[in-house]
Amino acid sequence: MKQVPSGSRALCALEAAREAPQRVLCDGRALVVWMVDEDRPGVIDDRCPHGNARLSAGYVLYGRIVCPLHMWTFGPDGRAQAPGGRTEAAGPAPRAYDCWISGDQVWARV
Ligand code: FES
Repeated sequence: MKQVPSGSRALCALEAAREAPQRVLCDGRALVVWMVDEDRPGVIDDRCPHGNARLSAGYVLYGRIVCPLHMWTFGPDGRAQAPGGRTEAAGPAPRAYDCWISGDQVWARV
């Protein structure tokens, strides 16, 4: 029998995450799930610290999720990069979650 870490949840279908960033509501949190590369998902809070946009409404570029409003990008660690490099006026970085693929689903410890 396969061991599942406590607090683990199946968030969405792998194919869906490969097609586009997915917004997932889980225990009162809004998360965005996307594919950093073919075999590596990313899961962070679905909120941009710059202007509270939904990151799930953005797109993926070179493995980073791009905010649809002002094009800040976020890696799977939740750290931001901004055009021009100025992120100091932002709120806290989105929380990042341990995540993995199991079967045809993306899982995370939330
Ligand atoms: S709201 Fe996301 S970059 Fe401005």
